[in-house]
Amino acid sequence: MRTAMVSLVIGVLVLVVTTKRAPRPGQSTKLMFQWLDIVECPELKGQNLSVVLRYNKNGDVYADTEWNVVNAAKKLVKLRQSVSSCRDDGTNCEHFVAWDFKDGCAFIANRNAIWSPCFSNIRPPFLCPVAAVHYVNKNFTIDKEILNALPFPRGRVYKDRLEMWNEKEELTYCIILSFTWKYVAIRD
Ligand SMILES: *[C@@H]1O[C@H](CO)[C@@H](O)[C@H](O)[C@H]1NC(C)=O
Ligand SMILES: *[C@@H]1O[C@H](CO)[C@@H](O)[C@H](O)[C@H]1NC(C)=O
Repeated sequence: MRTAMVSLVIGVLVLVVTTKRAPRPGQSTKLMFQWLDIVECPELKGQNLSVVLRYNKNGDVYADTEWNVVNAAKKLVKLRQSVSSCRDDGTNCEHFVAWDFKDGCAFIANRNAIWSPCFSNIRPPFLCPVAAVHYVNKNFTIDKEILNALPFPRGRVYKDRLEMWNEKEELTYCIILSFTWKYVAIRD
């Protein structure tokens, strides 16, 4: 798993370096990673997730989220990300890729990964042991240069289900992120 993740990250970095070109003069659109939605997994009751997504003129997206942790965790013994690929209207989803991490605590504590900006400014800190309290994550984003280089087929909507399980095999955190890549207008 770790090897697969490392080679994915290296592959992405190689792509980032090799696909960077000088912008064409007069270019007015840019392919951008876009978050469409973040919702809670319906089977985890009481999370009460609220989400605000804000787009700026470049197509960059920032999110504010708040939620309750219902099932505290001494340890996150399993973290699973499973991505399905859907039609551009979000229907007809099929399994695309899944990653399992044995050490969810290390995943959320990592400060140098693609996903780190999503977890680094949560108040109170979202770290093991995870307390059953209310969390606030204001104005976070992710590295879109790296995401724009991910070799996911375009023209699809992806749904990424992120689950974190505690030592009692209860769900501590579960959300579904929908995203796609879109051409957005940019200022020259
Ligand atoms: C759930 O969220 C809504 C809107 O943010 C809020 O009004 C309500 O009090 C929350 N409920 C709980 C149990 O936290
Ligand atoms: C969110 O962060 C961006 C980048 O740091 C900043 O430009 C923007 O003003 C922030 N928005 C809010 C509402 O804090």
